[in-house]
Amino acid sequence: MNMRGWTIPPPKEPTKSRAQFEKERTAKVEWLVGQGYIKSGRVKEALLKVRRENFVPRNYRDYAYLEVPLPLPGKRATISCPHSYPLFYEPLGLDEGHRFLEVGLGSGYGTAVAREVVGPDGLVVSVEIDPLTFEFARANLQRAGYGDVVLVQGDGGLGYPEMSPYDSIAVPAACIEIPAPLIEQLNTGGRLVAPVAEGGAQTLVLLEKGIQGVKRDVICQVLYVPLRGVYGS
Ligand SMILES: C[S@@+](CC[C@H](N)C(=O)[O-])C[C@H]1O[C@@H](n2cnc3c(N)ncnc32)[C@H](O)[C@@H]1O
Repeated sequence: MNMRGWTIPPPKEPTKSRAQFEKERTAKVEWLVGQGYIKSGRVKEALLKVRRENFVPRNYRDYAYLEVPLPLPGKRATISCPHSYPLFYEPLGLDEGHRFLEVGLGSGYGTAVAREVVGPDGLVVSVEIDPLTFEFARANLQRAGYGDVVLVQGDGGLGYPEMSPYDSIAVPAACIEIPAPLIEQLNTGGRLVAPVAEGGAQTLVLLEKGIQGVKRDVICQVLYVPLRGVYGS
């Protein structure tokens, strides 16, 4: 299957054991360190701990550690490729005690990883626009023991002002421009990472909100599903 420029392997019954997945997870984390995606100890520990295969639909489970996004229940929803998580969380400087907002819950995997990084003193809020995807993620997180994250079904382009301000915001869906409510809901000193679509290409952008204004840096070229809702395309 070809999905938005990615070649997705065909669905099949899962065959791999827990031990095989464990081995693949360790090898993947070592690869992410070697490639320079993982820099911090907390992100490394979180990626070693969270069992990604438990957030992947049954018929794609054997591919959990391949560098491809995999389809989820819902409209155009995917679990992003493994390298996406450190690609977002490292420039955010995601750390212990952070108040973190994710726009695009997807499978719930990124939410679980963030929960591990911020720890019990932090806060994780995730918003998902698609009701089917939302239910899939909610069940995954419950089963995996992450009942202490705040899950919201709605348009994450509007953020979640009820629990703002946030130290870190990740938007794993491509925007035409970064939604203003998200910038408003960032703490001073807070950071946001989002793919911004322009002329057929997408650029991963890092914003840092300072007292004087918002600083913008480009990280790299990427390929994400489009943001839906009021700020969507
Ligand atoms: C690439 S996936 C996110 C992957 C997810 N972080 C994970 O770990 O599985 C992007 C998600 O954003 C969701 N989405 C798109 N527009 C949205 C919006 N305006 N508000 C909330 N979620 C949105 C999609 O339905 C999809 O589930």
